[in-house]
Amino acid sequence: NTPPFKLRTRLPFEPVMVTRADTITVPAGYTAKAFIPWGTPICGSYPAFLENASNSAQDQAQQTGMHHDGMHFFPMDSKNGIGRQSDHGMLCLNHEYIDAPLLHPNGPTVVNGRRVNVDEVRKEINAHGVSVVEVRRGPRGDWDVLPTARNRRITGATPMQIAGPARGHALMKTRYSPSGTSARGTLNNCANGFTPWATYLTCEENWAGYFASTDETLPRELSRYGIGKAGRYGWETVPGDEFQRFNCTRISRDGTGDYRNEPNTFGWIVEIDPFDPDAVPVKHTALGRFAHEGLVFAPVRPGRPVVCYSGDDSQNEYIYKYVSRDQYRPQRSDGRLLDDGTLYVARYNPDGSGDWLALDINDANFQSACAAAGVTFADQGDVLINTRLAADVVGATKMDRPEWGAVNPDNGDVYFTLTNNGSRREADAPNPRAPNPYGHIIRWREASNDFAGTRFTWDLYLLAGPKNDSRDPTGKPLDESNILASPDGLWFDDEGRLWIQTDMSGSQQTAGPFGNNQMLVSDPKTGEVKRFLVGPYGCEVTGITATPDFRTLFVNIQHPGEGSTPTNFNSIWPDGPGRRPRSATVIVTRDDGRRLM
Ligand code: FEO
Ligand code: CA
Ligand code: CA
Ligand code: CA
Repeated sequence: NTPPFKLRTRLPFEPVMVTRADTITVPAGYTAKAFIPWGTPICGSYPAFLENASNSAQDQAQQTGMHHDGMHFFPMDSKNGIGRQSDHGMLCLNHEYIDAPLLHPNGPTVVNGRRVNVDEVRKEINAHGVSVVEVRRGPRGDWDVLPTARNRRITGATPMQIAGPARGHALMKTRYSPSGTSARGTLNNCANGFTPWATYLTCEENWAGYFASTDETLPRELSRYGIGKAGRYGWETVPGDEFQRFNCTRISRDGTGDYRNEPNTFGWIVEIDPFDPDAVPVKHTALGRFAHEGLVFAPVRPGRPVVCYSGDDSQNEYIYKYVSRDQYRPQRSDGRLLDDGTLYVARYNPDGSGDWLALDINDANFQSACAAAGVTFADQGDVLINTRLAADVVGATKMDRPEWGAVNPDNGDVYFTLTNNGSRREADAPNPRAPNPYGHIIRWREASNDFAGTRFTWDLYLLAGPKNDSRDPTGKPLDESNILASPDGLWFDDEGRLWIQTDMSGSQQTAGPFGNNQMLVSDPKTGEVKRFLVGPYGCEVTGITATPDFRTLFVNIQHPGEGSTPTNFNSIWPDGPGRRPRSATVIVTRDDGRRLM
């Protein structure tokens, strides 16, 4: 349907062209400045960042972590939900993982395959997690960290509560928590979410890689998640309970105990109160256990359940939806809404319809699917700890690596990125390329606009890729102004523009036509897509949030100069030549001080 008149563009900027420049590139009329890079002191004794990376583990626990990722700005007046204050708030951001060669002066110390420097390993654990930072905008539009008691680091070792159906479950009982009600730390926090009651949600994605088991056979709750023989940083090679917990071999190597259940305390959505530094973070098990990329809420309606969506970012995994049992009540609802409800998994039918399939031990369809598959679950906690297996059993649609989701505030359409899938052998309607090196964006609309329902209709919004293998939302091939690959971050601004961030691999950036990782913006009303920002060399662009007045956009730049060594830096961003490249937040403003667009 062609509109009767040409709509005024809602993307009023000259698109940035593909580039491999080692800097942040934004359109004319905009400025981008680095903010709170890795190592910025934010709490405690505010230890200064040392250029040679010689800060201790204890210092790191008082500084921003590495590898900035998902992020949200909470206006200071948002205590009971939406806030409007744009010059003062709590910025919460994830630190997904680390570059060990850059975290230490000379990289990690490894002797005969073992980590031998305990402080190094503690520093690595402390460089993971979440930073909660009180920030204020000055009269000239610059932002500062305020040194208040609200600032906080949450790390891979911070004590957390377990809530929901798996709390106290036999499979959650550990040496640390014999009652199965608490756990240590959060890891590989990729994308994020935020609740209607103004709390932050951090999501545990590739946590399985931190654990190791040399057992011949693994229980299903470990094997289905890909626990390997060695952890990615070798933390399990250090003696003592603090590190042996990453060794989930039946009897751990140093004889301190049996840590087989430790990985079951990861793979969850974690809720953090950004306004209460003493609040214990909560792992909400009703939302399922998998490689949670992020969590996005449907618009809330008083008297209706809350509904949220989450993707499992692994090849041929699924997209999920949670519907709370209890109703949302403004000013009165809290995280308990995330502890009792129904978890569904998506089936995308070839005719453009879709179904939400309940993963509920009391659901008759679920029971017959389990019986047909010969799979047994002891209780709902067992279903949730083995969420992937439960989704296999009901015949959900295997997707091309579900990453972020976003809900259009104008009409409730839900969008999800499917970043790529090199292992797809057979194309299907929702994943139409086999293999799929470039990724795409799927969207759906819940039947009757009832977010809590079980039927929907879906289509493909965009096929990423080069000019000769791509499709924009109007059906045309992408062009110089908008070719992209491996879409990952996804976010709607308040006016219904869709922001798309890319996570192309190193070779996709250097060999392909796409240049460095980037951020584009699209208008679903017109189908326009334009490139707005290109990151420095070797980075990922991920994480996005804005002030309510839309005069400040926060974007995260992760691992600039990826592959750097302690003596050879692949990027000069953000501090200049000869200095370690650092993940950082970027503050984007318009030079005339007005709304971004
Ligand atoms: Fe950490 Fe799925 O990106
Ligand atoms: Ca991601
Ligand atoms: Ca990714
Ligand atoms: Ca990354």
